Amino acid sequence: MTDVPANFWAVVPAAGIGSRMRAGKPKQYLTIGDRSVLEHTLARLTAHPLIAGVVIALAEHDDYWPGLRHLPVKPLHRVTGGAERCHSVLHCLHYLQATQAPDTWVLVHDAARPCVRSTDIDNLILRCRDHEVGGLLGIPVHDTMKRCDTAGAVLDTVDRRQLWHAMTPQMFRLHQLADALQQALARELLVTDEASAMEALGLHPVMVEATADNIKITRPEDLALAAFYLDQQGAPPCA
Ligand code: CTP
Ligand code: MG
Repeated sequence: MTDVPANFWAVVPAAGIGSRMRAGKPKQYLTIGDRSVLEHTLARLTAHPLIAGVVIALAEHDDYWPGLRHLPVKPLHRVTGGAERCHSVLHCLHYLQATQAPDTWVLVHDAARPCVRSTDIDNLILRCRDHEVGGLLGIPVHDTMKRCDTAGAVLDTVDRRQLWHAMTPQMFRLHQLADALQQALARELLVTDEASAMEALGLHPVMVEATADNIKITRPEDLALAAFYLDQQGAPPCA
């Protein structure tokens, strides 16, 4: 990877409230070991040699951010998030568009995924940097998949051979991604990831297989699992 210039920017949506987590504070501020989930995530991203810096979206009234003590030494810019994840990402992209070239690669990564491995980021960059659209990390579905109605009655079994869990980072070119998200919003599509916005334009991002420990902390039991994975992977790199 030494021949690749370090001009990849990370975008971190961190303006959510973590309602499914049912904790006393947003999940990105829950603690694993000596630091918050968000600090782990930022350390993972900025430890990667090709990431030039981070733009992070925070909630408008975020009382927790000022208390963080382990922030990375690479450039870190804050913007105010929006009503949904896609609005928060778009605010970050608008910030970058003022200073970076339109074809800059952007890696959007959930604040709530603190276990992302440097090797998975390597694989994503290697697969996407010459790709005309970009791509995302994910893992194939292993369980048998059922489609159910709203009452919980099983309707049928879905062929899982083409199904993947979408993860982050998701890597796209700055101007293409901003355009795609803007068009999705104009069509009132509240996309839950960046790839969906590209797909809505008829584009085909590439899926890059990740390690299964790149979990998103979503429900209460996920925090202990993330702590276990971080411990297994060794101490997080200090920023
Ligand atoms: N996010 C954001 N702005 C929003 C909503 C979500 O920046 N308006 C961020 C979250 O902080 C998180 C990421 O998007 O890092 C993925 O979203 P999700 O896991 O859904 O987090 P929350 O929305 O906080 O959780 P929940 O849906 O359970 O309320
Ligand atoms: Mg959410």
